[in-house]
Amino acid sequence: MRTPVIAGNWKLFKTINEATALVKELKSLVAGTSGVEIVVAPVFTALSSVADEIAGSGILLAAQDCFWEEEGAFTGEVSPGMLKDAGCSYVIIGHSERRQYFNETNGTVNKKAKAAIAAGLTAIVCVGETLAERESDKTFTVIESQIMGCLAGLPAESLKQIVVAYEPVWAIGTGKTASEAQAQEVHAFIRELVEKLFGKPHAEAMRILYGGSVKPENVKGLMSQADIDGALVGGASLKADSFAAIVNFMA
Ligand code: 13P
Repeated sequence: MRTPVIAGNWKLFKTINEATALVKELKSLVAGTSGVEIVVAPVFTALSSVADEIAGSGILLAAQDCFWEEEGAFTGEVSPGMLKDAGCSYVIIGHSERRQYFNETNGTVNKKAKAAIAAGLTAIVCVGETLAERESDKTFTVIESQIMGCLAGLPAESLKQIVVAYEPVWAIGTGKTASEAQAQEVHAFIRELVEKLFGKPHAEAMRILYGGSVKPENVKGLMSQADIDGALVGGASLKADSFAAIVNFMA
């Protein structure tokens, strides 16, 4: 009932030419794929060229961040409406790297999510605990405060424009994937929280992605879990063949 989403977060990699070449290759590898939403998130400067390259292919475009104001004297920022204008239908918000290096907080994620929704984008809201938090049994407390803070004050009907990505910080770029059971446990917890906040139909319809060292070898097991509805892929999305293998996890 929930269409899986496989999203590639290209982070700070790929020039315009490299990004368009990658997506061109990807396009041919996933041409026969159905039943999965495929999303790529290049750097801002490559968005509109990648949008041209994927036109008509079914692949969807995401940005890696946005600001919460639509326009104004905010040097260096990019607004949700501008992302839409560049061809985006998704925007990633609150990635742990933004929380760690750029002072992103649950409060700013909340503002960005509201602005993204207002502009007609779907927000991929990222949450996840650090290793120290997991080891001191704070995983569920941290996830709860992130979900509550990031989704605060959203009208229930806007939930269809929210995808949550659970990315344990200790699994990102480390090669240490959360086990299927570890991921499923947190995904089920997130769905329960969303149910408490917005009601069962919204919780059941919402896609919750797992991120953190997703590879062609582990995607199938993760996707077999009841509450895992897709993947947010970093390193393995930078090559067309490995990302296509993840997209085609059902094959
Ligand atoms: P890796 O797949 O490289 O671990 O990165 C995950 C991630 O941060 C996706 O947003």
